[in-house]
Amino acid sequence: MLSKTAFQRAAAANSRNLVTKQTLRAASAWSQVPQGPPDAILGITEAFKKDSNPKKINLGVGAYRDDKGKPYVLPSVREAEQQVVKKNLDKEYAGITGVPDFTKAAALLAYGPNSAAVNEGRVVITQSISGTGALRIGGAFLERHYPGAKAIYIPTPSWANHKAVFTDCGLEVKQYRYYNKDTIGLDFDGMVEDIKKMPKGSIVLLHACAHNPTGVDPTEAQWKEISDAVKEGGHYPFFDMAYQGFASGDTNKDAFALRYFIEQGHQPCLAQSFAKNMGLYGERVGAFSIVTESPEEKARVDSQVKILVRPLYSNPPVHGARVASTILNDASLNKQWLGEVKGMADRIIEMRALLKSNLEKLGSKHDWSHITSQIGMFAYTGLTAEQMTKLAEEHSVYATKDGRISVAGITSENVGRLAEAIYKVKG
Ligand SMILES: Cc1ncc(COP(=O)(O)O)c(C=O)c1O
Repeated sequence: MLSKTAFQRAAAANSRNLVTKQTLRAASAWSQVPQGPPDAILGITEAFKKDSNPKKINLGVGAYRDDKGKPYVLPSVREAEQQVVKKNLDKEYAGITGVPDFTKAAALLAYGPNSAAVNEGRVVITQSISGTGALRIGGAFLERHYPGAKAIYIPTPSWANHKAVFTDCGLEVKQYRYYNKDTIGLDFDGMVEDIKKMPKGSIVLLHACAHNPTGVDPTEAQWKEISDAVKEGGHYPFFDMAYQGFASGDTNKDAFALRYFIEQGHQPCLAQSFAKNMGLYGERVGAFSIVTESPEEKARVDSQVKILVRPLYSNPPVHGARVASTILNDASLNKQWLGEVKGMADRIIEMRALLKSNLEKLGSKHDWSHITSQIGMFAYTGLTAEQMTKLAEEHSVYATKDGRISVAGITSENVGRLAEAIYKVKG
């Protein structure tokens, strides 16, 4: 907010302007709107654009790139799109909860074909505006209906938008320990201790796989202990699964935590995104679901989800959901897609290995094993903000100041130069 004197200065300047222009126009309704802080990713994009070095590298983007550094449209998506177009479908509104063939298939993908919750008709699901929209519906639903405290615990650090989304939903956002900067790994003890210390019945946000921004995931054994701690506290788990399949290349493996929690009797809610695993970023395809106790409870919860979504955006867009649905429901396209997801995950895993081996070849004495033990699109390098600034200013390598790099932006061609730049900055 502007201070009183700044406010007065602005008001005086406004009235001077009005007088000199001798216009009768009223002061703008927005004259007191403060300038928001600059967006970190936009800042990177701008600086990257201005850099004339032909070998500049942008590791700030949160989208997959192929080995030529180009955006990638999955061939299965191209094919599914053709099939959708050929069907000559109308453009009528979907229902409030979206395209039913899509949401059914999305639930099966997340919860698995053997999920009792799905098979017994206990899962409420609605299509959403990608993962962000799913989180937003989830946050709003919890704010309205969760019987316990209206607070949500997110890991430190977490995807930058989590705090904003949940705060805007009216939830208080609190944090639990997650990342240990000394080991560049999981602070497992800290995480479990914090979960145990939360007031009974707290809402806990968990990244299902490929934690963003750290790339650090719990092992399956650790997930089991986390599940116990969440159960002990009577907490409510909210899974954010933005990278199913994209982490390990296997959609079942990446859903381990979610499915294990349910096996253990938790009834979580879930935000799904098809931005990364289908490369449908701009199509905004996602789903929000809630596991309930019974079909009767499901019906009540479902009615409230609809009441919540209706005044938000009425009903979701159909095209992307039709494409995703075609891929999920056609056996041969589905197989092809799973192969392509694995291809993307494997390229990322390969780039991690290449970066590490290049750093070692250069003689770096630093332990880079976290580069290959981390998973998913992002890697936390452990570089400081000053070192990241040096990377940008002296080596034309752009990424966020927290030391996070998008591994998707590494290619077989630029990995050598990237390793040299990191070596020169970090040793
Ligand atoms: C952890 C996490 N959750 C949710 C999202 C939401 O993405 P989208 O809204 O593009 O599906 C992202 C995207 O980067 C993410 O990293």
